[in-house]
Amino acid sequence: MYTGERARSERFVCVVSGVRRACLAAGYVALFLAMNGCTAAAHGGVRVGQGVVTKGPVLLRVYGDRAAVMWESEAGGPDTVYYGAEGKLERHVVSEGEKVRYRGGGRGTKTVFIHKVWLEALEPGEAYSYRVGDEGPRGQVYEFRTIRRELERVRFIVYGDSRSRPEMHRRLVELMIEKEVDFVVHTGDLVSSGDKYEQWGPQFFEPIKGLAERAPFYIAKGNHEGDGGTYEKLLSPPGEDNSFSVDYGPVHYFGIDNVSGGGDTGKRLRQITKDAEGSRALWKFVSFHVPSVNFGGHWSTWGSPEAVPAFGRAGIDFVVTGHSHQYERFRPVAPLRKGEGGYVTYVTSGGGGAPSYDVTRSSYHAYAAEINHFCLFEVDGEKLTMHAIDARGNVFDHLEISKKDGVLNEEYLKTAVSMAGIMLEQEMNLGRQD
Ligand SMILES: [Fe+2]
Repeated sequence: MYTGERARSERFVCVVSGVRRACLAAGYVALFLAMNGCTAAAHGGVRVGQGVVTKGPVLLRVYGDRAAVMWESEAGGPDTVYYGAEGKLERHVVSEGEKVRYRGGGRGTKTVFIHKVWLEALEPGEAYSYRVGDEGPRGQVYEFRTIRRELERVRFIVYGDSRSRPEMHRRLVELMIEKEVDFVVHTGDLVSSGDKYEQWGPQFFEPIKGLAERAPFYIAKGNHEGDGGTYEKLLSPPGEDNSFSVDYGPVHYFGIDNVSGGGDTGKRLRQITKDAEGSRALWKFVSFHVPSVNFGGHWSTWGSPEAVPAFGRAGIDFVVTGHSHQYERFRPVAPLRKGEGGYVTYVTSGGGGAPSYDVTRSSYHAYAAEINHFCLFEVDGEKLTMHAIDARGNVFDHLEISKKDGVLNEEYLKTAVSMAGIMLEQEMNLGRQD
């Protein structure tokens, strides 16, 4: 990867005898420039032809000073992102690309390149434009905004388990686009079988078009993504692993992969609590795929029995997970003993498209349903609202809470349930887990 002014571009593709050919050796650059009027030279890759972008672009991360973007192209397709503030695309990054060959839908073997790059040296709170590839009919310009230093209000979506039914996934994404959110969190299971490369286009990249170019997608990897490395190739930002930690004003959001093979649950729990304890944000969110509290569906109890008390002690406000294809919002879970941590709200949001699972309704639930949906959170300083929205755009669950001096409003706390009770309920249903 290389960053620089366009005038210093390393990429060069020359037209010789009507056929586009790549110029490989730096020693020939001057000659080619003189003969063919090419731009500068010496890039390591070879680009032939006019291949197109076949997946993305998708914003994988946005921080105050940099952003990660990915796309996939055909061989010879665009390997450069042009970007800049105030609508000027005066900077660029060139990607080497990672070659992937796969058997696609009965049409023989396809060769594509996955590109992932960081757009560096950005200013906080600025609007940036970017375009993958050269100007032209396919050279669409997208916009995103870096995170402001002083940010009071933030709006974001959390949803998950969008695999298997791309029509439903797309219907939900079209509703999400209207919400103009700052970012999106996906709680995992993006495709049915992640190691089947041909599924990623129709099940994930196609349905998220129009949203993921502008709002970054922070993802907690699901078990259906597989352990074959395809998920990481496509969606792990360069130099980062499958976890994410990001601050948007009053919200700190941490996400972790709790499904990849060979993982140490204790270590992952320590990562979650350490991250939360290290944040001074007013609202702390955590997402991972397999829930720690879940009535119905898989009856998952990831990290049990340590997780639930640990999340309370760490001061986490919301734990939003997926895996069970349902919606359930639990009443706030009180600490075991007064003064031993805060109240945690658990939400299972696994209704992004996959066929629904049965919910086992309980007095511990504030709301539970087998329903395709997404969750829209809006945080304005000490005030937080959440709308759970179905595939018709109707709000079927609504939460409005606030904090004063770091303490949740009394009305909400009156609805709390006991941690011992909820853990006992889970214990009694252990045989029903997957
Ligand atoms: Fe899952």
